[in-house]
Amino acid sequence: MYEKITLHDKTFVPYISNEVLEKAIDKVADKINSDYAGSGRIPIFLNVLNGATMFTAAIMKRCNFAAELMSIKMTSYQGTSSTGKVKVPMGLTGDVTGRDVIIIEDIVDTGNTIVALRDILLEKGAASVKICTMLTKPEVYQQSLPLDYVGMEIENRFIVGYGLDYDELGRNLKDIYILE
Ligand code: IMP
Ligand code: MG
Repeated sequence: MYEKITLHDKTFVPYISNEVLEKAIDKVADKINSDYAGSGRIPIFLNVLNGATMFTAAIMKRCNFAAELMSIKMTSYQGTSSTGKVKVPMGLTGDVTGRDVIIIEDIVDTGNTIVALRDILLEKGAASVKICTMLTKPEVYQQSLPLDYVGMEIENRFIVGYGLDYDELGRNLKDIYILE
């Protein structure tokens, strides 16, 4: 599957195939299913727009218990690096008061986004907050907040695909690509 792609001014090469990614997602979904199925709780999957959309859909398709879906839009990246500031261009699409929330993220990098999001959720009265991320960069993640469900760990490099973008391009790719 070695095929370079160009997005804006940069070239990316294949990094994680869709097949490998989907197997990792299967494992994450199995774990969530075993934690929630039969628990009698109806959690909310919180899709962190835009990047987590594909991963959220993949998790929802594998979910075998009653769950709801909400979204929020958070941004912190510009080009290929974090600005260190988290913006919320669109707030929560529903009421989380007293609810168990599972944050669905495409990738946890510095952790600024999930820490800010956890604070928003607790401030809005969520009963519990769990974090489910498709990918994480452990070299960069310096927060004490535990990542409850992790698909794959990757090196500290910039990637696109499966929802992740380089200045809004590349989200539609079914495999993950890395900056050449
Ligand atoms: P954090 O707040 O630094 O943890 O960054 C999390 C957000 O930055 C993710 O939700 C992504 O939208 C974006 N991000 C982090 N790393 C990458 C990357 O390698 N490619 C594309 N987006 C990324
Ligand atoms: Mg994101």
